[in-house]
Amino acid sequence: MSTRVFVAAAVVATLAAGAASAQEGNPFLGRQRFEEKRCTECHAVWGHGGRLGPEMSVAVAGKTFYELVGDFWNHTPQMIDRVSRLGEPWPALDPAEMADILSYLYYLRLFDEPGDAARGAQTYARLQCVSCHSLGRRGGTMGGALDRFSAYTSSTALAQAMWNAGPRMQQAQVRTGTPIPQFSGHDMADVQAFIRAEGQRPGRDVVLEPLPNPARGATVYRDKGCGACHDGAGRSAPDLARSTLSKTASEITGLLWDHSYAMGARMGAKGIRFPQFTGTEMADLIAHLYFLGYVGQEGDPKAGAAVFDSKGCASCHRDGGGAPNLAGLARRTDRAGLASAIWNHAPAMHRTMAERTSFWPKFEPGEMKNLAAYLEALAKGGAPAAGSQARGRTGAAR
Ligand code: HEC
Ligand code: HEC
Ligand code: HEC
Ligand code: HEC
Repeated sequence: MSTRVFVAAAVVATLAAGAASAQEGNPFLGRQRFEEKRCTECHAVWGHGGRLGPEMSVAVAGKTFYELVGDFWNHTPQMIDRVSRLGEPWPALDPAEMADILSYLYYLRLFDEPGDAARGAQTYARLQCVSCHSLGRRGGTMGGALDRFSAYTSSTALAQAMWNAGPRMQQAQVRTGTPIPQFSGHDMADVQAFIRAEGQRPGRDVVLEPLPNPARGATVYRDKGCGACHDGAGRSAPDLARSTLSKTASEITGLLWDHSYAMGARMGAKGIRFPQFTGTEMADLIAHLYFLGYVGQEGDPKAGAAVFDSKGCASCHRDGGGAPNLAGLARRTDRAGLASAIWNHAPAMHRTMAERTSFWPKFEPGEMKNLAAYLEALAKGGAPAAGSQARGRTGAAR
């Protein structure tokens, strides 16, 4: 799996998306930048690269934007140390570069852990696929053979075919009194692993799927009219950013499937044709849905004010502290700009902090997001005070 994905990554590196906004970053460019900035000298991705720092696909993949920024911060002292011991300059990242690298790290988790064939066998039996489909010459005939899906390592080809055949499959299930299958958690990946193990096909070649592209997926989302029900203030269907938060690609695939019948009925009622997917459309759409959760939920500025104090940022960054006014920074820049400023100034901050204290504050998940919300509120002039710390207003100009 890992080698395959890496090869695919190399093949498709030229495919750089383009449509993503600067702030959200472009994972394909991020992959390039991760090499150009020589992060790979110390960090491996899927086993390729240096060993001085943690393996990225394990350490950070799938963390949301601000969790990643918090992670970057937490580990900077050791990184500064290592980089300077190698005699190299600190790799500065401008906002676009930062956005691209962060989105690349998030993107890595699109490739779930491979499913488990033994668990998949149980799921396949429980969902009664075998009564209508044949696999490795065993099973029913009503729905046709599933062997050809054994050439794929990810479950999206299977999911796409299931979706397209959904209305016909549902009729058969209703007719035969078979329950309509529901997928949760790892189910989808497990069934795919089972099909891979059991399916018969000529040769053992695998289909090299192009890397799912969230920017193209956004176009699919628009073209298939998903927004007609899911977007806007008067939406009649769940907010998908919320639904997909912290979900893996195979969980999202399962979610999409589980609701396909209910959605099909709604579409019929609205006169919208049940969409069909071809080529990489489903894979791209899932990548897009996966990225909806990237920025995470909104931070809480009030909690952020407390973070600003408790991490010691206030002691230097408040009036008279000698460090730049962060409200001004937040006014000039965006999310990615803030992340880039934190990263680029880390060595200088580390030096100053080492003179004053010997302690580098660590961020827990959620804290960086709240801190950013606080700085944004300051930038807009509406600074919420954190309890007793109200006196040291930071909103004023330096
Ligand atoms: C000279 C070696 C070196 C280079 C170059 C380097 N790092 Fe690191 N990095 C480390 C080490 C060592 C750690 C672990 C620090 C620790 O455990 O606190 C680390 C940790 C991290 C972490 C936190 C991982 C975790 O476990 O949560 C992130 C994120 C990270 N690096 C990103 C980057 C990026 C992005 C670049 C390129 C711009 C980069 N690093 C370049 C050595 C390096
Ligand atoms: C009650 C019978 C029934 C059950 C149970 C059933 N299916 Fe189907 N399935 C069908 C029918 C009928 C079709 C449509 C065949 C056609 O007309 O193309 C179909 C189509 C499909 C397709 C598209 C096939 C293709 O070649 O494009 C896939 C993939 C699929 N089913 C997977 C599954 C899986 C996985 C399960 C178990 C979770 C399952 N089905 C359970 C009846 C069933
Ligand atoms: C005609 C309206 C309509 C359209 C068009 C539509 N959906 Fe839905 N969608 C719904 C409704 C209603 C639900 C909730 C269904 C239920 O409760 O089972 C839903 C549920 C979902 C869910 C599960 C959400 C959750 O929180 O459980 C996902 C994921 C989803 N839709 C994705 C899509 C995608 C992707 C498209 C475009 C291909 C799309 N929808 C098009 C109406 C629609
Ligand atoms: C010991 C003093 C000190 C502490 C504590 C400190 N900083 Fe800094 N910070 C500085 C200094 C000094 C600079 C300017 C560094 C430079 O010029 O490169 C700076 C720069 C920055 C910048 C870039 C500002 C700009 O305008 O580009 C950001 C963002 C930042 N700090 C965030 C933080 C956060 C968040 C915390 C708390 C977790 C924090 N700092 C804690 C001293 C500190």
